[in-house]
Amino acid sequence: MQKQIDEFNKYVSTFDMQIPSIKRKHEHSLMTMGAAGMLAKELKLDIRNQFLAQLIGLLHDFARFEQWAKYETFWDKKSFDHGDRACELLFGKGYIKHFAIPTEYYPAIRFAIKNHNKYEICTDSIPLCGDFDVLFHAKLIRDADKIAIVRELINSKGSAELPGKGELVPGISQGSIDSANEGRLASKDKAITIADGILAWMSYVFDLNTQAAKDYFVKNDLVMKLYKSSESRLFKEDRKTLKELAKQITDSLSTRSQSSL
Ligand SMILES: [Fe+2]
Repeated sequence: MQKQIDEFNKYVSTFDMQIPSIKRKHEHSLMTMGAAGMLAKELKLDIRNQFLAQLIGLLHDFARFEQWAKYETFWDKKSFDHGDRACELLFGKGYIKHFAIPTEYYPAIRFAIKNHNKYEICTDSIPLCGDFDVLFHAKLIRDADKIAIVRELINSKGSAELPGKGELVPGISQGSIDSANEGRLASKDKAITIADGILAWMSYVFDLNTQAAKDYFVKNDLVMKLYKSSESRLFKEDRKTLKELAKQITDSLSTRSQSSL
């Protein structure tokens, strides 16, 4: 994996790594690779599949650097779809050739990266890729990405940019409460208040595919830690409700295990 990490670092160093957003995405890529490797091990995947999971983790945000350099935003709607663009750069423009990866891995890498940032995975046409389970890897990167994102949010101690409008008013929208109660991923774009934004982050857990990722969230109490790291941003009247929802969401992780991989 070191060869691939070195190549990745070389690519990122063509951008200004003094810029905090570039530095943050570089760290995020490495952290996602680590989370993917950790999950792959937990799931007892063989060495080739562990390697593939880590590769996808390392490369999933390949377009983020160009995105910031050109548009100074990570908001896809204001720039480009960064999953699609990563595929264009890696496979259209041929950057993938620098990474010394056997070509038999390509279809799985491409499919997983393209689908990592969509609201849901598009299963209309899943490519064949030797004996690799392509859909499984597309699910795994979404879990690894969420572990990395939530850990980064917790480490940022409430300084991360909130999803949605982040209006400085108290209250939680009914839509957010519904999605928490129904166990659905909340749409970040529909978040209006600060509490909505934080709840949208918490709702990431409803989109976890593997039991290993769910276990990781429960074992490390990540939803409650996420709440605590954001608590100071909340209006006092919203804190109790959100803390209870954090507990409720964590509990639901332990019981929603039947459909997991
Ligand atoms: Fe991404």
